[in-house]
Amino acid sequence: MRRRDDSFLHPCVFAHRQLSVEADLAIASERRWELYKLLAEPIRLRLLALAAEEELAIGELAELLGESQPNVSRHLKPLRASKLLAVRKEGTRVFVRLQEDHRADPVVADALRAGAGLLEDEGVLGRIAAVVRAREAPARAFFAQAAGAPSAWPSELGAYLAALAPLVARRRLAVDVGTGDGALLEVIAPVFERVVAVDRAEAQLERCRERLARRAFDHVELLLAELGDAPLHDRVGELGGADAVFAARVLHHASRPSEALRGLASLAAPGGFVLVVDYRAHQDERLRDQQADAWLGFEPAELRDYATRAGLEDAHVTPIPAARCGEGPDGHLDWQVLAARRPADA
Ligand SMILES: C[S@@+](CC[C@H](N)C(=O)[O-])C[C@H]1O[C@@H](n2cnc3c(N)ncnc32)[C@H](O)[C@@H]1O
Repeated sequence: MRRRDDSFLHPCVFAHRQLSVEADLAIASERRWELYKLLAEPIRLRLLALAAEEELAIGELAELLGESQPNVSRHLKPLRASKLLAVRKEGTRVFVRLQEDHRADPVVADALRAGAGLLEDEGVLGRIAAVVRAREAPARAFFAQAAGAPSAWPSELGAYLAALAPLVARRRLAVDVGTGDGALLEVIAPVFERVVAVDRAEAQLERCRERLARRAFDHVELLLAELGDAPLHDRVGELGGADAVFAARVLHHASRPSEALRGLASLAAPGGFVLVVDYRAHQDERLRDQQADAWLGFEPAELRDYATRAGLEDAHVTPIPAARCGEGPDGHLDWQVLAARRPADA
């Protein structure tokens, strides 16, 4: 094999060799004539110029040039073999684009100018955007069909919440008090790095375990405990306190709601939030029998007062629109959420 000596190369070629040390068939010095041969077809100039504009699939190139796919493939083959074009396979489709570091080669640059000129004259360049936009046409048609009422609880919720998670400034640890079957975990587990979920009823935790396994919520720890129990407080203390303590539909079961708020507050790290979802005061006595409720909801001022007495600050209560409160036996009640924060210097 002949030894390659760079000192005999044209300066442009030498410069190129420095750009792309890997010698490509068509660009390499002593076989440079191959590059001219390779480009001696108008369709190849067009293909090269299109691939320099946008990464395009073979079918898209054929459509733009008004050529058959086999013909386009035939002409792409040497351009691909010479590594002028980079190839990316996606399933059954093949995309090509110009290998960027060849743009600097003067012959390639000239070929690109010539190809672009041909495409311009034929109005092809102006059609690229429409051909690329057409990639979305199947999805547009698919989703344009009426598909009934929206699902109440999208099965993709966890994935969507993963997109939201980076916006939550403090998400090291959440505690879900009275987790029940873990419905709230569907929302908080994808957001927080770690969750302690606690309930005093083993029967509820059993259902919750099933959910954790189904969702691969391996970072959720279940605890069988009462809100006031020392093992719960010890564990959360060990973990440095919670950034958020949730209690959804739990407070109306507490014999002393004010004391329960103090228990929730003590689980929060300094600066951490306590978030209580519960009903607004109502008169529906059936809830006592149907759901074993001890209290018929709370006035917002009552909740704020509990929070203040628990040493929390910035307490505010926000109503939750009825359309978001489910269809269970408590779906007809007015729901609200209390948000309050443990002082940062607590
Ligand atoms: C109505 S369920 C709510 C479950 C869940 N948070 C939700 O909103 O779907 C109330 C749950 O809180 C639990 N619970 C009530 N008081 C509790 C307490 N003091 N300590 C621990 N769990 C409690 C009950 O065992 C029950 O599972």
